[in-house]
Amino acid sequence: MQDLNPIAIELNERFRATAPTVFELLSELGKRIYLPKGILSQTAEASTKAHRFNATRAIAQQNDNMMHLAVSRELVPALPLEGIYGYAPVLGQPELREAWKTHLLKENPSLAEATLSLPIVTSGMTHGFSLLAELFVDSGDRLILPDKIWGNYRLIFQTKAEANLQTYPFFNATRGFNTHGFREILTNMTDEKLLILLNFPHNPTGYAINRTEAQRIVDAIVARADAGCRILVMIDDAYAGLWYDASVMHESLFGLLVGCHPNVVPVKIDGATKEEYAWGLRVAFISFGLEEVAMQPLEQKFSGLIRANTSGASQVSQTLILEAMKTPGYAEQKQRNYEILKARALKVKEIASDVRYAKLWEVYPSHAGYFTCLNLKSGDAEQVRQRLLEEHGIGTISLGETELRVAYSCLDESDIETVFRTIAEVIEDV
Ligand SMILES: Cc1ncc(COP(=O)(O)O)c(C=O)c1O
Repeated sequence: MQDLNPIAIELNERFRATAPTVFELLSELGKRIYLPKGILSQTAEASTKAHRFNATRAIAQQNDNMMHLAVSRELVPALPLEGIYGYAPVLGQPELREAWKTHLLKENPSLAEATLSLPIVTSGMTHGFSLLAELFVDSGDRLILPDKIWGNYRLIFQTKAEANLQTYPFFNATRGFNTHGFREILTNMTDEKLLILLNFPHNPTGYAINRTEAQRIVDAIVARADAGCRILVMIDDAYAGLWYDASVMHESLFGLLVGCHPNVVPVKIDGATKEEYAWGLRVAFISFGLEEVAMQPLEQKFSGLIRANTSGASQVSQTLILEAMKTPGYAEQKQRNYEILKARALKVKEIASDVRYAKLWEVYPSHAGYFTCLNLKSGDAEQVRQRLLEEHGIGTISLGETELRVAYSCLDESDIETVFRTIAEVIEDV
């Protein structure tokens, strides 16, 4: 076991004094990590005081400008050189962090009365989850999540971080979210520390919870916390905003969890990835419902972790997202994309649940996001997938033995009928 660096010890003491639940949830790496007072702090000091020559930054300059190649600069002529080529701050551009916080407060009325940290920028949501795994998960820690999930959670939390995954059936008998099963699995866990991961709008089904389900989830978490368990609740909001059904909640569950119990630390992971239609820009955010006194040492821990892997998210990507958010027409353009996706979702609902297909598949309830998921009543989903691809040039995702996920986000509305008719033909032929 390594000795803790004095800076790490000091950070841990600050947690113990101001946010003991965060301290108890930290992994061994989480306790060890810190941001050295090295090059970054010397550079920051020089940027305010080195009036004559600043020879601290590990970049190249010419005539007081960043050296660059015109061949790439000409592709993004409207942006400042620093906003393209400069290193972004480890936790992200301050103005982008502020803008995302404003966005979260606007989209989540439940956060109006709550404490919300300044979001930390990560290189996509996957990076955000990896950071949370490093900071909070030790080998053998239990992570509770449903049986239907975005597969990357397994790689991040089980394969890499060695968490002990505990699953419950996502749906109940009436095809709603299985709040009873969720509560039951929590009650059965007697551990002093638990990790929970929830994702609505959901990948792979497109399910979104209503207010009653949301409250039941919160109540189950609070009941476990009341019994002395410390819980990190990770809320994956990848598809936030893409709600198409008036019966479901149009804000994040995160808002209801902030401040729900002193033993509960909720964290929201969301991103430009899907919300801003910017998948490959790799800009995402981690936000906590914690006070400044707890966020200060936590930001130091994140800075240490980020510094030790990506060293920060792409500057030009952050600039593009921020500048887009500030540009007139931004809200209208987003609304237009939303309307297109909503029209597809409604079309999928109408076509996929047509009675002529009832003997072939069950359509899982889907209210939001990108996907619909079919539970095939006969035939092997992987075989169906392969035949769709090889014989009809249609790509889908098979999950387990019977489930076929269709990303209607990638289908023109006019093609939806053909796609489902072809799926039906293939199943009948298998
Ligand atoms: C539920 C969910 N969370 C997270 C992500 C990943 O986001 P990112 O591309 O920002 O890593 C995805 C991507 O498909 C997803 O479906």
